[in-house]
Amino acid sequence: MTTEKVDLRGAAATLLMTLYMRAFDARSRRPILGDRYAQEVLDRVEYDFATLHRFTGDASAIVCRAKRLDEWTTEFLVAEPHGQVLHLGCGLDSRPLRVRPPRTCRWIDVDQPEVIDLRRRLYDLPDHVETVPASVTDEGWWDQVSTDRPTLVVAEGLLMYLPDDDVRALVDRVRQTLPRGLLAFDAVAPWTVTVSKWTPEFRAVGTRFHSAWDRGTFESRHPSLHRLDDVSVYDMAALAEPRLWLRPALYVAGVLPPMRDSMRLHRYRFGY
Ligand SMILES: C[S@@+](CC[C@H](N)C(=O)[O-])C[C@H]1O[C@@H](n2cnc3c(N)ncnc32)[C@H](O)[C@@H]1O
Repeated sequence: MTTEKVDLRGAAATLLMTLYMRAFDARSRRPILGDRYAQEVLDRVEYDFATLHRFTGDASAIVCRAKRLDEWTTEFLVAEPHGQVLHLGCGLDSRPLRVRPPRTCRWIDVDQPEVIDLRRRLYDLPDHVETVPASVTDEGWWDQVSTDRPTLVVAEGLLMYLPDDDVRALVDRVRQTLPRGLLAFDAVAPWTVTVSKWTPEFRAVGTRFHSAWDRGTFESRHPSLHRLDDVSVYDMAALAEPRLWLRPALYVAGVLPPMRDSMRLHRYRFGY
């Protein structure tokens, strides 16, 4: 087995946190997502993962988020087998292996060049899964996107790392380029942006959250999007948490609006 030394900085480094949590879930007695690829990839990454263990209290939330996005992706591909999936900020997530997109669709994984380079070395992806090394804020990579296919844009754990103006420009670009489709993403509450500045693991790699969710602002900026879902990730986690001792804490989090809304999943439809 060949291993890869990983030394990522900035937002790219956070992909190790979500990878670790998916592997933690997969190793548990009652996995929620059961992403077997996460452990295989983790075993090939040279990194001191013990430093990430303290995040595992959030593991159920992270894997519930991934599971719901997998379900939305599968639902889209069943309805639109010739459609296109833009998997933005894909990190080292095995979504195309879990969801198994049909060969008739286009699937494009997008992340920063150093991440796509690592992804290509660590995963044996089907050849109809394309990988694009680019910042989602760049314009150039959009040339590679089909403009005539219904498209699901899925952005997991991404938008909070972008400044507000970049999120706005990205959503505008989606609407200008794509005829019809769905936009699925998670977003965080404003207080988490402040807390993220002081989170030791974020400080160590030089990153933090930059943008937070405000439904009124988002929907008035993008009036052609039609809301389908707005789900609390912690509500999902409280129901699914396999560690019984954690359920009371998640239940309490679920009735406190700042915690309940700290991370929410959103799905919008456009052009239909
Ligand atoms: C928390 S990780 C999430 C990764 C993956 N979606 C997952 O759930 O495991 C954040 C990801 O966003 C990517 N990212 C951050 N800013 C980006 C940008 N401007 N363009 C492309 N990817 C970006 C990072 O490189 C990283 O892979």
